[in-house]
Amino acid sequence: MKNKINKVKELALKEIGKAKDIAEIESLKVKYLGRKSELVNILRTLKDLSQDKRKEIGEAANKLREEIESGIRDQELEIRKLEFSNIEEKERIDVTYPGSVNQKGHLHPLTQVRYEIEEIFKLMGFLIVEDREVEDEFHNFDALNMPKDHPARDMQDTFWLKSGCVPRTHTSSVQIRFMENNKPPFRILVPGKVYRNENTDATHESNFHQVEGLIVAKSGKVTVAGAKSIIAEFMKGLFGEDTKIRLRPSYFPFVEPGFEFDASCPYCKGEGCRICKKTGWIELGGAGMVNQNVLVSVGLFEDEYEGFAFGFGTERMAMIKYGIDDIRLFHSGDLRFLEQF
Ligand code: PHE
Repeated sequence: MKNKINKVKELALKEIGKAKDIAEIESLKVKYLGRKSELVNILRTLKDLSQDKRKEIGEAANKLREEIESGIRDQELEIRKLEFSNIEEKERIDVTYPGSVNQKGHLHPLTQVRYEIEEIFKLMGFLIVEDREVEDEFHNFDALNMPKDHPARDMQDTFWLKSGCVPRTHTSSVQIRFMENNKPPFRILVPGKVYRNENTDATHESNFHQVEGLIVAKSGKVTVAGAKSIIAEFMKGLFGEDTKIRLRPSYFPFVEPGFEFDASCPYCKGEGCRICKKTGWIELGGAGMVNQNVLVSVGLFEDEYEGFAFGFGTERMAMIKYGIDDIRLFHSGDLRFLEQF
């Protein structure tokens, strides 16, 4: 009997010592302490033994139970400790690991400049107006005093659609659209995309943006001097207070007299540099008193109203404002470029 007890003890303690998880411990509990265990078997036989033997074996069996129980407790503790230190390792938080940052986008530089331009003109009482990008010949050319075969049409080489329409070559078409539906007086500003059949280079794209301005009121109320001061105000707002402007005589069929206007170079302040090609001035757009033929084409009586119109390229202004030397960058989709704004 004693022998048996020692064997059980040896076996049990050895197995318990090797247990690796709680499930194993649980089954060893059943195996060595459960109803069908060797220990319980031994205890059951006690009643058949002599009194002396019963006492001796009984004590030894109880001691075995205690030893098994405490072996199990110790091992369980060991397993739990190990599990805990594993959790610590597994779920450890490295506070020095770089966090994941949500990348926020922002408006395209052209959109930013466009909004800035709109804000300046809104302060001067202009209404922002948009219209279609695909135009018929009448609104893009004829109504703007550019009838078929007029040589001025060559100034804007055009993509023709099979329908006879054109992706508008300038935002001036919206002058006509707006006047067809609105009676003067008004001041409007028209931002938008335009298309020209041009080869692209560092300063030309076949698809670019313009901002068109149109002021129309009763004759005598609109003057070149007044319009010039509006443009001057705008240039100061966009490029800085010390910006100067100048008008040069030029020709556009829809204005008479017509001008091109320049701003003093914001980089060299008029001294002459690479950006302004050593002239001290940067050409920004066209302008002029609206040709009476244009007003008549939308049904107004000749000489009853007068207008002033101007138009300039949005890319050009963004290029000057930010010192960008290649217009193609705007449509490149290159994040290294875009993230600078
Ligand atoms: N529409 C002209 C162009 O695209 C610019 C312009 C607008 C000139 C208004 C005069 C008046 O070249």
